[in-house]
Amino acid sequence: MIIGVPATSANLGPGFDALGLALSLRNRFHVQRAEREEILDCEVGCDGADNLFLVAARRAAGLVGRELPSLRVRFEASVPVARGLGSSATLIIGGILAARELLGPEGAEVLDEGAVLDLAASIEGHPDNTTPAFLGGFAVSVLEGGRTVAIRKALGTGLAFSALVPPFPLETSVARAVLPATVPFADAAANAGRAALVTAAFLSGDWDMLGMAMRDRLHEPWRAPLIPGFEEMKEGARRAGALAVWLSGAGPTVLAASHGGDAAFARRMDALCATMGPRPWRHLLLEADDAGATVIA
Ligand code: HSE
Repeated sequence: MIIGVPATSANLGPGFDALGLALSLRNRFHVQRAEREEILDCEVGCDGADNLFLVAARRAAGLVGRELPSLRVRFEASVPVARGLGSSATLIIGGILAARELLGPEGAEVLDEGAVLDLAASIEGHPDNTTPAFLGGFAVSVLEGGRTVAIRKALGTGLAFSALVPPFPLETSVARAVLPATVPFADAAANAGRAALVTAAFLSGDWDMLGMAMRDRLHEPWRAPLIPGFEEMKEGARRAGALAVWLSGAGPTVLAASHGGDAAFARRMDALCATMGPRPWRHLLLEADDAGATVIA
């Protein structure tokens, strides 16, 4: 079978660990039963039994009370690793869906939509990448007593998303370690209001609200120093006419939204990335992905 899972951008400014959307860039996993377990064509060092795809598949099988056969999984990976575009969520959702498919009717019954969302979020620790990676579109999701509570909406083609991807990685664990244990009440209040506004803008299609609504005071200020060039890219994208600019997930990628089909803005993003000197950033021009994860058996 071939499982496709989209890249995702989480947080969307003020919606830390809750807001996310799926992007038109996907990892594909070619899965076969095999004599012995094998992971092919993944990044160096991730081909062991602790690969997140296999870990998630085994956890899913455990929920069903069954064991999986040995699998050969060939990665056809397009989502950059450790860049804040949800590559680990693609492995987690991919592994769970592989198990669900292999375990037949029993797998389908136990691993219904809610169980997939709950398990994926419990492996990742937060649901903001895994929910849109599975369901596609824009998603608000929170953890409540171990369950993932989510609302999602298809986004259509009104927006384009320019992912400005730096040439260096940033591990999520490092980007979470710099966050403060507590924040001033005023910052929390500002974020709550703006997260509500971002959500309302995505649900209503009022894109002109996004730029102001995306201003974050909880995580971006702490993470910016870890990302050389972050402020220049953010400012450059704003000056070039972006509707909104934010740090994608834990970073280091910067996401800029523009009206769908604005070719002139896309060219300005190409030019902006090229200004970053001897190790230029990469511009991936994307759309929303409303399909979510797909399985071709
Ligand atoms: N909400 C998460 C974070 C996304 O910002 O740490 C990264 O996986």
